[in-house]
Amino acid sequence: MDELEFLKSAVPPLLGWYRIYKRDLPWRGTRDPYRVWVSEIMLQQTRVEAVKTYYCNFLEKFPTAEALAAAELPEVLKSWEGLGYYSRARNLHAAAKIIAESGFPQTWEGVRALPGIGDYTAGAICSIAYGLPCPAVDGNVLRILTRLLKDGRNIDDNRTKAEFSAMLKEVYPEGAGDFCQSLMELGAIVCVPNGAPLCGQCPWREFCRAHLAGEEERYPVRAEKRARKRADYMVFVLEREGKFAIEQRKESGLLAGLWQFPLMEKESASPPEYFGTVAAKRSAKHIFTHVEWHMTGYLVRAREFFPDYVWASEREISEKYALPSAFKAFTPWLSNS
Ligand code: ADE
Repeated sequence: MDELEFLKSAVPPLLGWYRIYKRDLPWRGTRDPYRVWVSEIMLQQTRVEAVKTYYCNFLEKFPTAEALAAAELPEVLKSWEGLGYYSRARNLHAAAKIIAESGFPQTWEGVRALPGIGDYTAGAICSIAYGLPCPAVDGNVLRILTRLLKDGRNIDDNRTKAEFSAMLKEVYPEGAGDFCQSLMELGAIVCVPNGAPLCGQCPWREFCRAHLAGEEERYPVRAEKRARKRADYMVFVLEREGKFAIEQRKESGLLAGLWQFPLMEKESASPPEYFGTVAAKRSAKHIFTHVEWHMTGYLVRAREFFPDYVWASEREISEKYALPSAFKAFTPWLSNS
């Protein structure tokens, strides 16, 4: 049997399994492209469990693309607070303005052209909302397919993604949305990464070539990982008369345009005593995709309202300024100071 025939024969058992075992997730009951889109953007870099609440709250606040387009960006960023990767929210807002003008695009090319939408997300939206045979291939889908086919291609090579995508397109069944999500679901709850996949529960247990050879742990084949960079910062929570100093990050790069406590690289930072009297100190670590921050935070009773900063109350900070989760370790100081 050739590879495509084999893959095609694996589709019905997967779909049958999905219809019984799929998780009940808040975005699974809709084919409204706006809702599918919001869910897919949130799910891009965030775990399903974390997305559930944000998704429901976001749609309550912005139930349509028009409502989102009419909102001001800070309000959108505020409702994104804690989800991370804030460029997703900026792009969502920018794309909503386009959609409010000309409607949600109806083709893969049209969807793909919106800000913040790559091949994967365009495939997911078109499969789920429109029932089009547009594959959505990410690391999870590559993992389950390389195991199924016992395929040793390097999944970190971009060509691999395109090759699997082309193969999947050939076997897309009726019910494209279910098929798309069944691939994701298998990767999420059965054919899991790192450690033993739950092969006993897998609809492909009698198909999977890696499993039948007892070699599921050897797939997928990956390129060597590059180490994350490390950055050491001092973080100053400056308090004066119930106000705290914050500053806006620059408009590009990590956490662009969001707000932070005065943050300085350790080597070039002023000593905390420069700002006033140190009242507390604690360390915290935050891990981003390409860098990890090691922070030493100081709560300081500031000797003056340093004019380089915006001075805001705890309430203003929690309601108005998007403060990334990286600084969460220091926010208890706001209420206890
Ligand atoms: N990950 C990305 N898209 C998803 C979806 N629609 N359901 C579950 N997990 C996902």
